[in-house]
Amino acid sequence: GRSRSAYAADGRVPFGAAIQTELMNGDPSYRELFLKNCDLVMPMNALKFSLLRPTRDIWDFAPADKVVDFALGNGKTTRGTCHVWWGATPDWVKAIESPSEAEKVLVEHIERVGDRYKGKLRGWDVANEVVANDPLYENRSLRDTYWLRVLGPRHIPIAFKAAANADPAADLVLNDYDLEYQGPHYDERRTIVLSIVRQLQDANVKIDAVGLQGHLYADKVIDVDAIDRFHRDLDALGVKLIVTELDIIDWKSPAGAQSQDKTAAELVTRFLDAVFAFKAPELVVSWGLTDRYSWVNDVMPRPDGAESRPLPFDRALLPKPWFETLRKRLAEA
Ligand code: G3I
Repeated sequence: GRSRSAYAADGRVPFGAAIQTELMNGDPSYRELFLKNCDLVMPMNALKFSLLRPTRDIWDFAPADKVVDFALGNGKTTRGTCHVWWGATPDWVKAIESPSEAEKVLVEHIERVGDRYKGKLRGWDVANEVVANDPLYENRSLRDTYWLRVLGPRHIPIAFKAAANADPAADLVLNDYDLEYQGPHYDERRTIVLSIVRQLQDANVKIDAVGLQGHLYADKVIDVDAIDRFHRDLDALGVKLIVTELDIIDWKSPAGAQSQDKTAAELVTRFLDAVFAFKAPELVVSWGLTDRYSWVNDVMPRPDGAESRPLPFDRALLPKPWFETLRKRLAEA
């Protein structure tokens, strides 16, 4: 048994997916897929800093509003990603050299956006991918970003405080990748996440959850015990675990729909075993729904030229075996 989630009405662990605003008009079957299969629908990109505020003078809320209205208007919940992210800091911000000016811009951004969607978004990825990509090799714990250079590590509590000010009821999340695997490199990344959580708490800054992105690589080993320990460690700190960007990066598994999907099902099963071992997560979000549209095709294409099959539904919008596995797991929890 588990305590009832704030997200789904009937006691299942809710399933969500990230939607691409620019695809919502052209393809009705795309929209339908989200309505039919999701409890939560969130913007994949539209709430990122550089898209909301591409220049100092332009605020563009329309694409994010479209997803939020679509979700809420259809009885779904929604959430936001992300305030602080190296991948979406606009150039006009990166040109600011004064720490006090940078802090002002960051706080103003988070408060304005947080306030605008107050009561509508379940929560926010406040800080995304702040852990160093390879902490042991780089000999640093935080990623070298504009925000770190201009404000230092305090940009993290600054962002969480601003988010809490703007929307006190929102779940505030520290989100990151490569927290799922076996080996010293991944142990170090998990350790750093836990230490960031403790530092926030020691400073009386609210943090509600850690997001495991869950970009699952077919060629890495998921560490069931380490994820389970990580989950328990978070729980001991009063912090929840959610899965925020689930998909399969299958570029190194044998080509062919059947074998790729078999690899995916094994990966997802192992991942869910790990994540659910201690207790059910609050939410599982997939990073898109159909293989028709995924960053994996663009950024991590298969070297053999075969199609990537990252998502729970294929290009014909038919569910993969692993989606059934996931649904059962969410229903049983
Ligand atoms: O829509 C335009 C299209 O009109 C144009 O022709 C094309 C040319 O580049 O770009 C399209 O926009 C792209 C958009 O994705 C939609 O596909 C942007 O260039 C591209 O930058 C954007 O990439 C997104 C990326 O984050 C950067 O924001 C991906 O969709 C999105 O999946 C990816 O998501 C990240 C998470 O936020 C953090 N974790 C890793 C994850 C994968 O990289």
